[in-house]
Amino acid sequence: MIEIQHVSKGFRRGDHVVEALRDFNLTIEKREVIAVIGPSGCGKSTLLNMIAGLYAPSKGRVVYKGQTVTDVNTDVGYMTQKDNLLPWRNVRDNIAFPLELSGVDKAEREQRAVAVMKQVGLDGFEARFPTELSGGMRKRACLARMMLYGAETALLDEPFAALDAQLKLVMHELLLRLAAENGQTVVFVTHDLMEAVTLADRVIVCTRRPAMIALEQKIPLPRPRDVLNVRFTNEFKELYDALWERLRVEYQEERV
Ligand SMILES: Nc1ncnc2c1ncn2[C@@H]1O[C@H](COP(=O)(O)OP(=O)(O)OP(=O)(O)O)[C@@H](O)[C@H]1O
Ligand SMILES: [Mg+2]
Repeated sequence: MIEIQHVSKGFRRGDHVVEALRDFNLTIEKREVIAVIGPSGCGKSTLLNMIAGLYAPSKGRVVYKGQTVTDVNTDVGYMTQKDNLLPWRNVRDNIAFPLELSGVDKAEREQRAVAVMKQVGLDGFEARFPTELSGGMRKRACLARMMLYGAETALLDEPFAALDAQLKLVMHELLLRLAAENGQTVVFVTHDLMEAVTLADRVIVCTRRPAMIALEQKIPLPRPRDVLNVRFTNEFKELYDALWERLRVEYQEERV
């Protein structure tokens, strides 16, 4: 579905270049759920931006379903790290915006937006404006918008970072259920290893900047997963411990 082939990315800053990714190689299968984890500033968001076609690689290429990505890839829904709700639209119309762009009529898109708002626990906030929402509510509005868009691939950059533990579990369950129902391929960035192992088929641990792949770990836990209880199994614990050991090294090196 997605091939990242020898991708490097540098950003010019004054007279030098900040190298965000270096010779990054990753092949993602259709319907796979991939978690990307790694130290802050290593290049994770940059990677998603390149899959989405927002940034071009400095070297190498990103291939989506056999085609080199050269422009914004409209087959992917992208929930960015910084929320980008439109301040002049109420929450419902923000969530319905991608449907509006694809020409769905008003009554239908409003009805579908209201339904998905209920799923993320935002019912009652349809007529509010983004500035009236808390950080976690804004995150959920972005998640709802992406889910409603229903693209074949979903990119999510720290989608659950601002949520409390209870709400995280509800959103985890929802994401896995909708992704399975819609046959979506999912790539998400997280700093939460528990979340990565709970949700993913494969966890990619990145090195500190420039991001390279430090470790790739398959998560062969059966699906559908019980997002609350899967963490208490021995299989989960073994995977978690092995990953944590590698991650600890990356995070420690960063501090030196
Ligand atoms: N548009 C840009 N222009 C210049 N530098 C950039 C740009 N985007 C990212 N960078 C730089 O590239 C590096 C990687 O940034 P990126 O946002 O990909 O990190 P990240 O892994 O997502 O970090 P975090 O976990 O904190 O979100 C950083 O040094 C950042 O300053
Ligand atoms: Mg980031």
